[in-house]
Amino acid sequence: MTALPRRIEPGSPPPPKALGTAGIGFGSTRRRDRWWIAPISQGTVFTILAGYLFFSGIVWTPLFGTAYEVDGYLSPLFSPLIAPAWLPWFISPGLLILWIPLGFRATCYYYRKAYYRFYFADPPGCAVGEPTIHKRYRMETAFPFILQNFHRYFLYLAFIPLFFLWVDAALSFFPESGPRLGLGSVIFVVNAALLSLFSLSCNSLRHLVGGRVDCFSCTRRRRVQHSVWQRITTLNVNHMGWAWVSFFSVVLADLYVRLLALGVITDPAIHF
Ligand code: FES
Repeated sequence: MTALPRRIEPGSPPPPKALGTAGIGFGSTRRRDRWWIAPISQGTVFTILAGYLFFSGIVWTPLFGTAYEVDGYLSPLFSPLIAPAWLPWFISPGLLILWIPLGFRATCYYYRKAYYRFYFADPPGCAVGEPTIHKRYRMETAFPFILQNFHRYFLYLAFIPLFFLWVDAALSFFPESGPRLGLGSVIFVVNAALLSLFSLSCNSLRHLVGGRVDCFSCTRRRRVQHSVWQRITTLNVNHMGWAWVSFFSVVLADLYVRLLALGVITDPAIHF
Protein backbone atom coordinates (compact mmCIF):
# COMPACT_ATOMS: atom_id res chain seq x y z
CA MET A 1 0.00 0.00 0.00
CA THR A 2 1.32 3.48 -0.92
CA ALA A 3 1.81 5.71 2.11
CA LEU A 4 0.06 9.09 2.01
CA PRO A 5 2.36 12.12 2.30
CA ARG A 6 2.08 13.83 5.69
CA ARG A 7 2.14 17.28 4.16
CA ILE A 8 1.43 18.62 0.68
CA GLU A 9 3.47 21.67 -0.23
CA PRO A 10 1.54 24.57 -1.76
CA GLY A 11 1.83 24.57 -5.54
CA SER A 12 3.08 20.99 -5.72
CA PRO A 13 1.21 18.55 -7.98
CA PRO A 14 -1.42 16.42 -6.27
CA PRO A 15 0.05 13.17 -4.96
CA PRO A 16 -1.21 9.83 -6.17
CA LYS A 17 -3.87 8.46 -3.91
CA ALA A 18 -3.02 5.36 -1.90
CA LEU A 19 -4.34 2.28 -3.68
CA GLY A 20 -5.62 0.64 -0.54
CA THR A 21 -7.65 -2.52 -1.01
CA ALA A 22 -9.99 -1.21 -3.72
CA GLY A 23 -9.91 -2.51 -7.24
CA ILE A 24 -8.98 -0.27 -10.16
CA GLY A 25 -11.94 1.44 -11.85
CA PHE A 26 -15.29 2.78 -10.73
CA GLY A 27 -17.23 0.24 -8.68
CA SER A 28 -14.54 -2.41 -8.94
CA THR A 29 -14.47 -4.48 -5.77
CA ARG A 30 -14.19 -7.95 -4.31
CA ARG A 31 -16.98 -7.22 -1.87
CA ARG A 32 -19.92 -9.59 -2.14
CA ASP A 33 -22.41 -7.57 -0.07
CA ARG A 34 -24.78 -4.93 -1.45
CA TRP A 35 -22.43 -2.08 -0.58
CA TRP A 36 -24.20 0.29 -3.00
CA ILE A 37 -27.52 0.29 -1.12
CA ALA A 38 -26.25 2.63 1.62
CA PRO A 39 -24.81 5.40 -0.60
CA ILE A 40 -27.77 5.33 -3.00
CA SER A 41 -30.47 5.36 -0.31
CA GLN A 42 -28.63 7.88 1.88
CA GLY A 43 -27.96 10.13 -1.10
CA THR A 44 -31.62 10.06 -2.12
CA VAL A 45 -32.96 10.80 1.37
CA PHE A 46 -30.30 13.44 2.01
CA THR A 47 -31.09 15.24 -1.26
CA ILE A 48 -34.82 15.27 -0.54
CA LEU A 49 -34.40 16.56 3.03
CA ALA A 50 -31.74 19.13 2.13
CA GLY A 51 -33.85 20.29 -0.84
CA TYR A 52 -36.86 20.73 1.44
CA LEU A 53 -34.83 22.71 4.00
CA PHE A 54 -33.44 24.96 1.27
CA PHE A 55 -36.93 25.59 -0.14
CA SER A 56 -38.56 26.19 3.23
CA GLY A 57 -35.77 28.20 4.82
CA ILE A 58 -34.92 30.44 1.89
CA VAL A 59 -37.57 30.37 -0.85
CA TRP A 60 -40.99 29.49 0.58
CA THR A 61 -41.84 32.65 2.51
CA PRO A 62 -40.45 35.27 0.10
CA LEU A 63 -42.09 33.58 -2.88
CA PHE A 64 -45.44 32.47 -1.45
CA GLY A 65 -45.77 34.46 1.78
CA THR A 66 -46.40 31.37 3.89
CA ALA A 67 -45.92 32.12 7.59
CA TYR A 68 -43.08 30.51 9.53
CA GLU A 69 -44.58 31.33 12.93
CA VAL A 70 -48.09 30.45 14.00
CA ASP A 71 -49.87 30.35 17.37
CA GLY A 72 -46.65 30.39 19.40
CA TYR A 73 -44.81 27.93 17.18
CA LEU A 74 -41.73 29.37 15.44
CA SER A 75 -40.19 27.15 12.77
CA PRO A 76 -36.75 25.92 13.89
CA LEU A 77 -35.31 27.14 10.59
CA PHE A 78 -35.98 30.72 11.68
CA SER A 79 -34.82 30.54 15.28
CA PRO A 80 -33.62 32.85 16.74
CA LEU A 81 -35.77 35.10 14.59
CA ILE A 82 -33.75 37.93 13.05
CA ALA A 83 -36.04 39.96 10.82
CA PRO A 84 -34.91 43.60 10.76
CA ALA A 85 -37.19 46.12 9.05
CA TRP A 86 -34.54 46.85 6.39
CA LEU A 87 -34.48 43.25 5.18
CA PRO A 88 -35.76 43.19 1.57
CA TRP A 89 -38.90 41.09 1.03
CA PHE A 90 -37.07 38.67 -1.23
CA ILE A 91 -34.56 37.69 1.44
CA SER A 92 -35.81 35.12 3.92
CA PRO A 93 -34.97 35.81 7.60
CA GLY A 94 -33.98 32.15 7.70
CA LEU A 95 -30.94 33.03 5.63
CA LEU A 96 -29.53 35.11 8.50
CA ILE A 97 -29.38 32.14 10.87
CA LEU A 98 -29.48 28.99 8.71
CA TRP A 99 -25.82 29.32 7.67
CA ILE A 100 -24.82 28.19 11.16
CA PRO A 101 -26.64 24.82 11.32
CA LEU A 102 -26.04 24.24 7.61
CA GLY A 103 -22.32 24.94 7.98
CA PHE A 104 -22.24 22.69 11.04
CA ARG A 105 -23.86 19.80 9.17
CA ALA A 106 -22.01 20.31 5.91
CA THR A 107 -18.65 20.07 7.68
CA CYS A 108 -19.66 17.24 10.07
CA TYR A 109 -17.26 14.31 9.86
CA TYR A 110 -20.07 11.82 9.41
CA TYR A 111 -21.83 13.80 6.67
CA ARG A 112 -18.49 14.30 4.92
CA LYS A 113 -18.00 10.57 4.73
CA ALA A 114 -21.57 10.11 3.52
CA TYR A 115 -21.66 12.78 0.82
CA TYR A 116 -18.14 12.10 -0.40
CA ARG A 117 -19.52 8.64 -1.14
CA PHE A 118 -22.92 9.38 -2.61
CA TYR A 119 -22.14 12.64 -4.43
CA PHE A 120 -18.49 12.24 -5.45
CA ALA A 121 -17.99 8.45 -5.32
CA ASP A 122 -14.76 9.31 -3.53
CA PRO A 123 -14.79 6.46 -2.70
CA PRO A 124 -18.24 4.94 -3.40
CA GLY A 125 -17.69 2.57 -0.46
CA CYS A 126 -14.99 0.86 1.60
CA ALA A 127 -12.69 -1.18 -0.68
CA VAL A 128 -14.63 -0.09 -3.78
CA GLY A 129 -12.84 1.44 -6.78
CA GLU A 130 -13.25 5.13 -7.65
CA PRO A 131 -13.66 6.87 -10.99
CA THR A 132 -10.23 7.47 -12.55
CA ILE A 133 -10.75 11.21 -12.21
CA HIS A 134 -10.36 10.82 -8.46
CA LYS A 135 -7.02 9.07 -8.55
CA ARG A 136 -5.13 12.29 -7.82
CA TYR A 137 -6.36 14.66 -5.20
CA ARG A 138 -5.34 17.18 -2.57
CA MET A 139 -7.60 15.85 0.11
CA GLU A 140 -8.83 18.65 2.38
CA THR A 141 -5.71 20.79 2.00
CA ALA A 142 -7.00 22.97 -0.86
CA PHE A 143 -10.10 25.02 -1.65
CA PRO A 144 -12.97 24.25 -1.36
CA PHE A 145 -12.61 21.24 0.91
CA ILE A 146 -10.08 22.95 3.15
CA LEU A 147 -13.12 24.82 4.48
CA GLN A 148 -14.14 21.59 6.20
CA ASN A 149 -11.59 22.53 8.86
CA PHE A 150 -13.98 25.22 10.10
CA HIS A 151 -16.08 22.50 11.67
CA ARG A 152 -14.95 23.20 15.22
CA TYR A 153 -15.95 26.87 14.85
CA PHE A 154 -19.36 25.90 13.51
CA LEU A 155 -19.64 23.66 16.57
CA TYR A 156 -19.18 26.64 18.89
CA LEU A 157 -21.73 28.67 16.92
CA ALA A 158 -24.23 25.80 16.71
CA PHE A 159 -24.95 26.05 20.43
CA ILE A 160 -26.49 29.51 19.89
CA PRO A 161 -29.48 28.43 17.73
CA LEU A 162 -29.69 25.24 19.80
CA PHE A 163 -30.18 27.31 22.97
CA PHE A 164 -32.96 29.28 21.26
CA LEU A 165 -34.65 26.08 20.09
CA TRP A 166 -35.00 25.04 23.72
CA VAL A 167 -36.36 28.51 24.57
CA ASP A 168 -38.87 28.23 21.69
CA ALA A 169 -39.90 24.77 22.84
CA ALA A 170 -40.52 26.09 26.37
CA LEU A 171 -42.38 29.19 25.16
CA SER A 172 -44.60 27.12 22.87
CA PHE A 173 -46.36 25.82 26.01
CA PHE A 174 -47.42 29.39 26.83
CA PRO A 175 -48.85 31.10 23.74
CA GLU A 176 -50.90 34.31 24.04
CA SER A 177 -54.09 32.26 24.07
CA GLY A 178 -53.07 30.61 27.37
CA PRO A 179 -51.12 27.58 28.59
CA ARG A 180 -51.52 24.39 26.57
CA LEU A 181 -49.98 21.03 25.91
CA GLY A 182 -49.96 20.77 22.13
CA LEU A 183 -48.58 18.22 19.73
CA GLY A 184 -46.42 21.02 18.30
CA SER A 185 -44.73 21.56 21.68
CA VAL A 186 -43.99 17.84 21.93
CA ILE A 187 -42.46 17.91 18.43
CA PHE A 188 -40.40 20.99 19.37
CA VAL A 189 -39.06 19.39 22.56
CA VAL A 190 -38.16 16.16 20.75
CA ASN A 191 -36.49 18.16 17.98
CA ALA A 192 -34.42 20.22 20.44
CA ALA A 193 -33.44 17.03 22.29
CA LEU A 194 -32.34 15.23 19.11
CA LEU A 195 -30.39 18.25 17.90
CA SER A 196 -28.71 18.44 21.31
CA LEU A 197 -27.72 14.78 21.06
CA PHE A 198 -26.36 15.40 17.56
CA SER A 199 -24.28 18.37 18.77
CA LEU A 200 -23.10 16.72 21.99
CA SER A 201 -21.97 13.61 20.11
CA CYS A 202 -19.79 15.67 17.73
CA ASN A 203 -16.26 14.34 17.10
CA SER A 204 -14.83 17.83 17.53
CA LEU A 205 -16.51 18.28 20.89
CA ARG A 206 -15.14 14.92 22.00
CA HIS A 207 -11.65 16.08 21.03
CA LEU A 208 -12.19 19.47 22.63
CA VAL A 209 -13.08 17.85 25.94
CA GLY A 210 -10.67 14.92 26.00
CA GLY A 211 -8.02 15.61 23.39
CA ARG A 212 -4.41 16.52 24.13
CA VAL A 213 -4.62 15.21 27.69
CA ASP A 214 -1.75 12.99 28.87
CA CYS A 215 -3.21 11.94 32.19
CA PHE A 216 -6.89 11.58 32.96
CA SER A 217 -6.42 10.61 36.61
CA CYS A 218 -3.77 13.05 37.83
CA THR A 219 -6.00 15.80 39.18
CA ARG A 220 -9.62 16.14 40.22
CA ARG A 221 -10.25 18.41 37.25
CA ARG A 222 -8.82 15.80 34.88
CA ARG A 223 -11.01 13.10 36.40
CA VAL A 224 -14.12 15.23 35.84
CA GLN A 225 -12.88 15.88 32.31
CA HIS A 226 -12.50 12.14 31.79
CA SER A 227 -16.00 11.49 33.01
CA VAL A 228 -17.45 14.10 30.59
CA TRP A 229 -15.31 12.71 27.77
CA GLN A 230 -16.63 9.20 28.45
CA ARG A 231 -20.22 10.42 28.23
CA ILE A 232 -19.54 12.23 24.97
CA THR A 233 -17.80 9.11 23.67
CA THR A 234 -20.89 7.05 24.49
CA LEU A 235 -23.02 9.48 22.49
CA ASN A 236 -20.42 9.67 19.74
CA VAL A 237 -20.74 5.94 19.02
CA ASN A 238 -24.19 6.69 17.58
CA HIS A 239 -23.32 10.00 15.94
CA MET A 240 -24.52 8.80 12.54
CA GLY A 241 -27.88 7.88 14.04
CA TRP A 242 -28.24 11.26 15.79
CA ALA A 243 -27.30 12.97 12.53
CA TRP A 244 -30.14 11.29 10.66
CA VAL A 245 -32.92 11.41 13.24
CA SER A 246 -32.21 15.07 14.02
CA PHE A 247 -32.26 15.82 10.30
CA PHE A 248 -35.73 14.25 10.09
CA SER A 249 -36.93 16.01 13.23
CA VAL A 250 -35.96 19.47 11.94
CA VAL A 251 -37.85 18.84 8.72
CA LEU A 252 -40.86 17.50 10.63
CA ALA A 253 -40.93 20.47 13.04
CA ASP A 254 -40.75 22.97 10.18
CA LEU A 255 -43.32 21.12 8.10
CA TYR A 256 -45.67 21.00 11.09
CA VAL A 257 -45.53 24.79 11.46
CA ARG A 258 -45.98 25.33 7.73
CA LEU A 259 -49.01 23.02 7.52
CA LEU A 260 -50.53 24.76 10.56
CA ALA A 261 -49.97 28.11 8.86
CA LEU A 262 -51.61 26.88 5.67
CA GLY A 263 -54.59 25.52 7.61
CA VAL A 264 -53.97 21.99 6.33
CA ILE A 265 -53.78 20.62 9.89
CA THR A 266 -54.79 21.77 13.36
CA ASP A 267 -52.72 21.41 16.51
CA PRO A 268 -54.25 18.83 18.88
CA ALA A 269 -53.80 20.39 22.32
CA ILE A 270 -55.00 20.27 25.91
CA HIS A 271 -55.66 23.81 27.17
CA PHE A 272 -55.33 24.70 30.84
FE1 FES B 1 -20.64 15.46 13.15
FE2 FES B 1 -19.17 17.27 14.54
S1 FES B 1 -18.55 15.41 13.66
S2 FES B 1 -21.31 17.30 14.11
